[in-house]
Amino acid sequence: MTSIGIHDLELATAHHVLDLGVLAEYAGVDPAKYRIGLGQDEFSVPAADEDIVTMGATAAQAVLERTGIEGVRTLLFATESGIDHSKAAGVYVHQLLGLPPQVRVAEIKQACYGGTAAIQAAVGIVLRNPGERVLVIASDVARYALDSPGEPTQGAGAIAMIIGADPALLEIEPASGLFTDDVDDFWRPNDSSTAIVDGALSIKAYLDAMAGAWDDLAAHGGPAITEIDRLVYHQPYTKMARKAQARLSTHLSAELGEGGLGDSGLAEGAIYNRRIGNAYTASVYAGLAAILDHEQGLPGKRIGLFSYGSGSVSEFLTGVVQAGAAERSDHFTSVLDARVPLTVAEYRELHATVLPSNVDVETARVTQAPFRFAGIKGGARRYERR
Ligand code: COA
Repeated sequence: MTSIGIHDLELATAHHVLDLGVLAEYAGVDPAKYRIGLGQDEFSVPAADEDIVTMGATAAQAVLERTGIEGVRTLLFATESGIDHSKAAGVYVHQLLGLPPQVRVAEIKQACYGGTAAIQAAVGIVLRNPGERVLVIASDVARYALDSPGEPTQGAGAIAMIIGADPALLEIEPASGLFTDDVDDFWRPNDSSTAIVDGALSIKAYLDAMAGAWDDLAAHGGPAITEIDRLVYHQPYTKMARKAQARLSTHLSAELGEGGLGDSGLAEGAIYNRRIGNAYTASVYAGLAAILDHEQGLPGKRIGLFSYGSGSVSEFLTGVVQAGAAERSDHFTSVLDARVPLTVAEYRELHATVLPSNVDVETARVTQAPFRFAGIKGGARRYERR
């Protein structure tokens, strides 16, 4: 059977950052609640001329510069924070990157799970024709209401991945565990720019789904927990990965966690997410990137990935790290360091600005990324290379 998986990946994030210590002071909250209780230090905030398209295009351009576009005939764009109910955000990326017309584009939605659905669809395309490669982009801006419990768990980020045969980074194994359950833990109505969330229910639904997905993985011939070297969980905030690890430990009556299996994976896998915040569809893969970028000696090791999208759909899958992982470095930390800090007043003003779609507007030139959202003209969004 052909080996298929992630050949290359690249992260991107937004121009601005809000320090959670600053937000805690404004909100009159002990900063330890955010830093320790949630496991978050900062979150990225898009500038007026950034969105899921500009972040996704930035990540995709970097990955395609390395891999080239040979064999790429599909672009799948996963997002929860879609910018149009009809047109796929990936079509704008297709134009910004100058991809040929012979690349099909579609958008995939299921809260934070969409990136994993896109990867599995890509694996199917490559299985049918191993000469093809698929560009998968997962890009999101996580927005909750100001002054709500979800506010400190906002964030923004994108990941672009090339899925192909004989992958250089991670071979995705055939067995996977699935769990779908109709639950109202988190959703975003068509006329709302912020998500509605029942925080306590979302934590319970996530943990129940993880146990269910694990059981399905086991029923479909997945590896035993002792055969998995690292575990990467969806991280709406990084403390959630620790809750997941504790639940899995109880569920399997296995020694996971402090000093045990997967512990170093939890610490390394949180490095980027602690600073990006929640990037919804990109979140679990930001965790994967952090492990690949920070750990030595990973080739040959098996990584378990748990992907959860509220609503809910989830999947437990596994992959084996390939030799190319040894070539990776932590260049993304310098991207995070280069973000421009906001005051709380500046952040709140940006948060409150939601552009109407029926008024022509030109956005301020702020981003230093290769692409920018130029504004709205005739009801249509305009993007340009900076
Ligand atoms: N020092 C250290 N830890 C502290 C603390 C302090 N001073 N104050 C509180 N904490 C801890 C709490 O004990 C709690 O830890 P625990 O979850 O291990 O029990 C954690 O910080 C969060 O505190 P809590 O009071 O539960 O927070 P909250 O009710 O304000 O909101 C969420 C937490 C996650 C519900 C909220 O951020 C949210 O709705 N987020 C969006 C939805 C989401 O991410 N869901 C996850 C599954 S998809």
